[in-house]
Amino acid sequence: MRVYFDNAATTPLCEEAIETMTTLMRAYHGNPSSIHACGRKVRSSIEQARKNIANLIGASIGEIFFTSGGTEANNMALNCSVRDLGVTRIITSPIEHHCILHCTDKLEDQGVEVVLVNIDKQGHFDYDHLESLLVDKRKKTLVSLMHANNEIGTVSDMQRISQLCELYEAYYHSDTVQTIGHFPIDVSKTKISFLSGGAHKFHGPKGVGFVYINGDNMVKPMIFGGGQERNMRAGTENVYGIAGMSKALELACGEMEERRKHINDIRSYLKNSLSENFEDIQFNGDADGAFLYTVLSVSFPPSDKSDMLLLNLDIHGISCSGGSACSSGAEAGSHVQKALESDPKRKNIRFSFSHFNTKAEVDYLMEKLATIIPAHVERV
Ligand SMILES: Cc1ncc(COP(=O)(O)O)c(C=O)c1O
Repeated sequence: MRVYFDNAATTPLCEEAIETMTTLMRAYHGNPSSIHACGRKVRSSIEQARKNIANLIGASIGEIFFTSGGTEANNMALNCSVRDLGVTRIITSPIEHHCILHCTDKLEDQGVEVVLVNIDKQGHFDYDHLESLLVDKRKKTLVSLMHANNEIGTVSDMQRISQLCELYEAYYHSDTVQTIGHFPIDVSKTKISFLSGGAHKFHGPKGVGFVYINGDNMVKPMIFGGGQERNMRAGTENVYGIAGMSKALELACGEMEERRKHINDIRSYLKNSLSENFEDIQFNGDADGAFLYTVLSVSFPPSDKSDMLLLNLDIHGISCSGGSACSSGAEAGSHVQKALESDPKRKNIRFSFSHFNTKAEVDYLMEKLATIIPAHVERV
């Protein structure tokens, strides 16, 4: 049996996205920039995807730019706001994805002030601290705070951050890579300057994503060449990926409530089973409050057995990760756990789910865990 509990790293493609892409691959080969009929057909599928994605998040068509994924979308938001919008200070957090933190490191080298907002033990941002930073309006500021943390699943209050940014005239970027297609996001209701999406987190293809750039923000091209993406990002478009992403997001948004219910059930089932059967199990993040329902981050007590947990689970056919995808299997130290000052001797495992998972898979995991971990609660 092969069980896939690593959906925060990437999700399997949905059949409908595969169907959309393969149909297009077979039928159309034109370059979308060509003005003849072959090109126009392909162009129209890109524009249809743009319209679809814009509608699904309450944006205008001209506010969606296709990218190679979440990393590029996040880099684009940060770099463009510094280069084109006069941003000289970025407020972010120590638990952002590396594609934010490594990018802000670079921008700091170039003279941008980078300030980290305080977090609590569960990974919630300290909104009073954020406000105290925003009060100082001497520098044009971008707030870049993720919607949901990919390692521990804590969800931020987008509405509250948006209101603070509006009050203190700061730009607001949210890394929504883990939440697009899983939570309702409507930029016509929540004022936001930039947000980012990656198709492979909602059962679309890898290597494609998008950045939403609010139409009030006049940013300049990031990649130079032909005039694709309205001059913003040159290069012949990833036509099939874009069409597959659009289909996958349409389904994810359309089936959001059913999927959420199913995934929540699986997550609770695992959480309860772990608590009932193992001693001293802890859950990272805000596991009972504002959490990303696709993620359950579990902290196992120190033992020589738990040290090899990831590897042993993999041997039994169970895929999960030690933190983010970057540390899947590698058991590398996590910057998120470090920032949360969690006990380095405990072992953190992230189980992450999709609507394709079943309770039978949880039973299988529990059965295998019982053979690996010694501190199994004795039943009388
Ligand atoms: C929160 C977050 N941001 C950004 C990314 C990067 O997205 P991509 O893999 O599409 O470049 C990821 C992927 O793991 C993520 O979880």
